[in-house]
This record gives sequence, C-alpha cells and structure tokens, in this order.
Amino acid sequence: MSKPVGIVTGAGSGIGLAVATHLISKGYKVVVADLNPTTGAAAAKSLGPDATFIQTDVSSYPSQARLFKQAYEWGSNRLDFCHANAGVDDRQILYEEFDKEEVDENGLVKPLNTKTMAVNLEAVIQGLWLFKYYVRRSKEAGGGKGTFVATSSSAGLYMMTTNPQYTASKYGVVGLTRAAGPVFVKDGITVNCICPAFVPTNLCPPHVLELWPKEHITPLSTVTKAIDAFLGDETMTGQTVELSLDKLYFRQMPEWANDSQRWIGTESLDFWEKAYAKVPEKEGYKT
Ligand SMILES: NC(=O)c1ccc[n+]([C@@H]2O[C@H](COP(=O)([O-])OP(=O)(O)OC[C@H]3O[C@@H](n4cnc5c(N)ncnc54)[C@H](O)[C@@H]3O)[C@@H](O)[C@H]2O)c1
Repeated sequence: MSKPVGIVTGAGSGIGLAVATHLISKGYKVVVADLNPTTGAAAAKSLGPDATFIQTDVSSYPSQARLFKQAYEWGSNRLDFCHANAGVDDRQILYEEFDKEEVDENGLVKPLNTKTMAVNLEAVIQGLWLFKYYVRRSKEAGGGKGTFVATSSSAGLYMMTTNPQYTASKYGVVGLTRAAGPVFVKDGITVNCICPAFVPTNLCPPHVLELWPKEHITPLSTVTKAIDAFLGDETMTGQTVELSLDKLYFRQMPEWANDSQRWIGTESLDFWEKAYAKVPEKEGYKT
C-alpha cells in the first residue's frame, strides 16, 4: 500500500515546516509548498526522500491548482492531508496616513492592497476546493479520506488592531471551518483550524523575537499536538482550536442569543431549501 500524502503550504519555515517534519515522522510523503524557492527547497531537502518542494504562490489559483495536481501525481494518485498554512500580515494599512493616501489619474482613490486576504483566506477556500477534488480520487491508491487543517490565529478569535485585514482573514478561516467542517465529514473529509498564540517563527522580525517575554511563547510542539488530535479522530471536524503555551482549547461558537437565532441557525434548513427551490432561475441569485 502506498504511503499517505500531505501538502503543507508555507512549509519553508516556521509552523508549516514543523508540521511537515511531524508528518514525515508519522510515515507521510509530504509536499513542501512555499513561495520562497530558497527556504522551500532547503526545507524539503532536510526532510529527506519522502519530501519534495513545489514552488507555489497560494494567492494565485493557477499556481495552487498546479500544486495539487503535481502533488497528487507525485504521491501515486493519492492525497490525504492538507495544511493550508501560508500566511502574511497586512501589506498596506487600512488606517493609511493622510499624506500617504493615493488617487489615480481620474481622481479615484486607489484600492487598498488586499494581498493578505488573498493569501490568508481566499487561498484557504480554494485549497479546500482542490483538496476535496483529489481526496475523492484517491480511493484506488488506498486513500479516499482527508484531513484538512487551516491556520487561523488568536487574531481570528480576538483581534489585532494593528492588522485589521489579518484579523478579518483569520476570522474568515474560523467561519469557513465551522460552516464546511460538519458538511465535508460526510464525504470522509474533516476540516479544522488552529488559532495559535505567539509562536516564535520568521513571521516576526528577529529583534522582536529577542525581546518577546519567554513566558508568553507557544512552542511548535503545541501545533503538532493539535495536528495529532485531528489525525487521530475521523469524527473531529468543524473545530476551532486555540493554541496557547502547551495547551489546546477547543473554542465553540458564541451561544445563540435567543430561540429565534437558534431556529435560524439550526432548524431553518428545510425552510431555505423549499423557499429557494421556488426562486425562478432567471433571477440568477447565484451569479
Ligand atoms: N507565528 C505566530 O505567532 C503565528 C500566530 C498565529 C498564526 N500564525 C499563522 O501561522 C502561519 C504560518 O506562519 P509562521 O508563523 O510559520 O510564519 P513564517 O513566516 O515562518 O512562515 C510563513 C511561510 O509562508 C510562506 N508564504 C508567504 N506567502 C506565501 C504565498 N503567497 N504562497 C506560498 N507561501 C507563502 C512564506 O514564504 C513562509 O515560508 C501563517 O498563516 C500565520 O498567519 C502564526
């Protein structure tokens, strides 16, 4: 039987590299996907013959689609695991200073650079879309079940006022997990996300790392503990797991405000199906 195969994005460094290393130790073949060709190739090399590097910009759909196709073929037509982990902080600040705001030649305000949303959220959604496609086509090679993990952040539970897009993207990952997780599990695919607190990685400039108080560091071993929890339970899905210090905290949605909200959230599915079935197609509500 062939080995299980995983893709880890942003695996050239930090959390992604730790997860890739952990998967190798568990007998996986791992595709290190990263934008950075130097660190990505070095990471794959350090992991040995069961790892390969595929340079990928997850914010480009064609690049990510190529990654998944190549990974599936490299893994002998099998894909079992994906950690959609690549992430960046805000590339342009929403609160831009008065004298730095730009207008184009027509006097229209130039758009905010939303790369953070593309990398941290849109790429995760497209990654899940691609993952599902290949997991469904892995049965003949011995697979057919999938574990999808996305990296959110503490900022996806609380907020980071210095990085409003980062915060929004990480909340988005939590929403995606909660909405899609319980649905995909029927297909044999679990979808969960991790919300790490402060983990010392290259995301943080070296001089800040040096100053950071040691008692507020969450080690990479807490990340791999969460990965083991997901891999060890095929029914665990839709979970948002906060990682702080050496502990995992399974975080639930807020309580329903009242019975009306509970009905809308849990029992209205029949209503929606019947009501939307009556919407004439020409209204094009899905376009
Ligand atoms: N380190 C922390 O304290 C912390 C806390 C919460 C969440 N996170 C999240 O963890 C994830 C991993 O970050 P990290 O801390 O390991 O940082 P890191 O900088 O060490 O690693 C991020 C990796 O992502 C890669 N990357 C960036 N843009 C990419 C793109 N478009 N396509 C492919 N790869 C790309 C980078 O080249 C880098 O190797 C991120 O999503 C980050 O937001 C980190």
